[in-house]
Amino acid sequence: MRVRNKYRKPTAFPCNAGSRCSMSAVVWSLVGFLLVLHMYSRFSNINAVNGDIQLRMSNHPLVHELEQVEKENIQIPHRKGKRSPRAAKRRPKRTTTLIDEFLDENSQLRHVFFPDMKTAVNPIKDSGNDSYHYHPGRIWLDTEGNPIQAHGGGMLYDERSNTYYWYGEYKDGPTYHAHKKGAARVDIIGVGCYSSKDLWTWKNEGIVLAAEETNETHDLHKSNVLERPKVIYNENTGKYVMWMHIDDANYTKAAVGIAISDYPTGPFDYLRSQRPHGYDSRDMTIFKDDDGVAYLIYSSEDNSELHIGPLTEDYLDVKPEMQRILVGQHREAPALFKYQGTYYMITSGCTGWAPNEALAHAAESIMGPWETMGNPCIGGNKMFRLATFFAQSTFVIPLPGIPGSYIFMADRWNPADLRDSRYVWLPLIVGGPADRPFEFNFGFPLWPRVSIYWHRKWRLPLSWRASK
Ligand SMILES: *[C@@H]1O[C@H](CO)[C@@H](O)[C@H](O)[C@H]1NC(C)=O
Ligand SMILES: *[C@@H]1O[C@H](CO)[C@@H](O)[C@H](O)[C@H]1NC(C)=O
Ligand SMILES: *[C@@H]1O[C@H](CO)[C@@H](O)[C@H](O)[C@H]1NC(C)=O
Repeated sequence: MRVRNKYRKPTAFPCNAGSRCSMSAVVWSLVGFLLVLHMYSRFSNINAVNGDIQLRMSNHPLVHELEQVEKENIQIPHRKGKRSPRAAKRRPKRTTTLIDEFLDENSQLRHVFFPDMKTAVNPIKDSGNDSYHYHPGRIWLDTEGNPIQAHGGGMLYDERSNTYYWYGEYKDGPTYHAHKKGAARVDIIGVGCYSSKDLWTWKNEGIVLAAEETNETHDLHKSNVLERPKVIYNENTGKYVMWMHIDDANYTKAAVGIAISDYPTGPFDYLRSQRPHGYDSRDMTIFKDDDGVAYLIYSSEDNSELHIGPLTEDYLDVKPEMQRILVGQHREAPALFKYQGTYYMITSGCTGWAPNEALAHAAESIMGPWETMGNPCIGGNKMFRLATFFAQSTFVIPLPGIPGSYIFMADRWNPADLRDSRYVWLPLIVGGPADRPFEFNFGFPLWPRVSIYWHRKWRLPLSWRASK
C-alpha cells in the first residue's frame, strides 16, 4: 500500500522545430482523422449489439432501484483558511482537486466525506423509513452503539448458522507515524469480528485474533502491521481459516499470516507467516471457489503485479503452482467474485491511503489470463468515479437469490485518524453492455459489464431481507 504508482504517458511529438514539419503534421492529422472515423463506425456497430445484451441481462426487477444513476454536484469551496500540512505537501502549487479536499482535515467539505456522529447509522434506534439503509461514508454503529471497527474487511457467510461474519482490522487506537517518512499507522490491536443475519445490524463478537503485547519478535507484536484479514471455512477439516497481510512498520517483511479456529467467532490460533511462493506479498485476499478449492491472490514484486495460486486442501498453505497476473499494472486491494462461471476482480491503484481509480478485471479461468476491463464506477461525478467514491476495494459479497448482484465493500481511509475510517458499501451488478478493453483488441471476449452504482443512501430489495 505504500509504493506509489507513477504512470507517465509518452508525450513526445516527433515535430519540435516549428513550421518545418507543418506539412507532414497536416497529412498526419488527416490520416488520424480518417482512422478515428473508421474506429468510431466500428464501435457504434459493437455498441448496437451490446444494447441487446443489456436488455437481456439487467432487467431483473429487484435490481432496478439499485441501478438508478445518482449524481453528486459538489463545488470545491473557495479557500480562506489554511490547508493542513498534509494537503499542502501533496500538491504544493497546482489547483486543488476534490482529492486534495478529501485529504485536507480542515476542508470545508470534511462533513461530506466524514459526516459526524449526529448522522451515524444506528440499527438499534427505531430509524423509521431509514431502517436497513446503507449510508456510504457515515459512521456505522454496532448493536452496542459503538462505531464498527472492521477495516480492510472480509465477509464469511456461515451456512451452519445462517449468519454473516464480518472480519476486519480493529483500529481503535491513536494514529501516528513510526518515523518521519513512515506511513500513518495504528498499532495492531487485532482482528475484529461482527455478526449479522441481515447485513445491516451488527453485533460485536470481540477481537478474534489479538495483538501480542510483549514479545517483540512475534508477527502480531503491536508495533507490526496486520491488514486485510479474510476468513473461509474448510468443509474437510471443519476449521475456520484466516489469512492476512503481515508486515513490519516499514512494509519490508511483506508476508502472509495464517490463523485457525473451530468457531467463526474465534479465538483464532496464529500459526505462522510466510512469503508465498517465495515472493513478497502485501495487499491480498483469499477466494473459495464452488468446488471447494481456495486461492490466495496477492500484490507482489513491489506491488507491480498480482500473483494467484491454489491453497492446499486444508487451506493452511499454498500449493507450488502460481500465476503472475496483471503484470506491470500496479494494482492492489483485490476483491474476487464469480458469476456464471466467469471470475471477476476489482482492484485499486497504489497511492497509499489516498483514493484512486478502481478497475474491474475478468477471466474465464481463475488462474488467468486475466483481462482488464475498465472503471466499474457509475454515478456521483467524475471525481467520485476516478476516486472509487473516495474508497478502496476490500471485498465483494454475493447476494444469494438475486443473480448477478453483489455488495461492493470498500474502505474510505482517514489517514489523519485511521480508526475513523469509514465503510462504503454499494450495489455491484454484473450485466449490461460489455466494457471496451484497455488496448483495443478484436480477439477480446465481450465480458458483461461490472457496475458499481453510487448511492447516498440505499438498501437491499425487501424481498431479499424477507428471504433471510
Ligand atoms: C417516512 O416516509 C413518509 C412518506 O414519505 C413520510 O411522510 C414520513 O415523515 C417519514 N418518516 C420518517 C420517520 O422519516
Ligand atoms: C516470541 O515469539 C517468537 C516468534 O513467534 C517465538 O519463537 C518465541 O518463543 C516467543 N517468545 C516467548 C518468550 O514467548
Ligand atoms: C524503518 O525505517 C526507518 C527509517 O529508515 C528506521 O529508522 C527504522 O528502524 C525501520 N523500522 C523497522 C521496524 O524496520
